[in-house]
Amino acid sequence: MPMKPINIAIDGPAGAGKSTVAKGVAKKLGYIYVDTGALYRAIGVHALRKGVDTKDAEGVGALLGEIKVELKFVDGVQKVFLCGEDVSEAIRTPDASMAASNVSAIPAVRAFLLDLQRDIASKNNCLMDGRDIGTVVLPDAQIKIFMTADVEERAMRRYKELQEKGISDTFEQVLSEMKERDFQDSNRPIAPLKPAEDSIIFDSTGHTLQQSIDEISALIGEKI
Ligand code: DC
Repeated sequence: MPMKPINIAIDGPAGAGKSTVAKGVAKKLGYIYVDTGALYRAIGVHALRKGVDTKDAEGVGALLGEIKVELKFVDGVQKVFLCGEDVSEAIRTPDASMAASNVSAIPAVRAFLLDLQRDIASKNNCLMDGRDIGTVVLPDAQIKIFMTADVEERAMRRYKELQEKGISDTFEQVLSEMKERDFQDSNRPIAPLKPAEDSIIFDSTGHTLQQSIDEISALIGEKI
């Protein structure tokens, strides 16, 4: 019998540093890094392209039959495909962030993506990052980490990332969208963002990314 893969859940709000930290730790351990937000973003982008209101559960639900979302791992780097098209870059805009948060509150969308996430985790040692990985997707994950940080600091990190990409949103815009997304993601009735009871809470406020990678690697190292 093959050994059960090791699954590490990393949840938390946008901009807490989950993806950078999880990527760094995955590389150290030789695990794959799975960014589940990319799945919701792909569905959000599809709805935007089709001109469907991303908060309209019926409208978005009706699109699911025509949507095929796949994750592929090329040299350990995740790529997301929407109906065969590589949308890994297209999903990284502020509009796609808000669309993802909107569609992620729709139960049919969450159900649509659940098996895909569990299937990857059942076959691979992985770090999976999202909002409900420790609570819903992988409740039996061997390690669960909930990463958070002060909202102003998270918004500043995101603002700098967007600037590097040439996206000219102001800091105030980024901060207000982040607060809106935090609120939506934490207050939806289905799979809201919250720490699993057995998670380790890690606050990255005031940490450099390297400090967070080192501390979380050490935490994981103690457990596996
Ligand atoms: O991690 P991210 O910022 O790329 O996620 C985009 C949105 O997708 C986020 O605002 C909420 C949603 N999401 C979710 O509901 N559940 C997940 N496991 C991952 C993301």
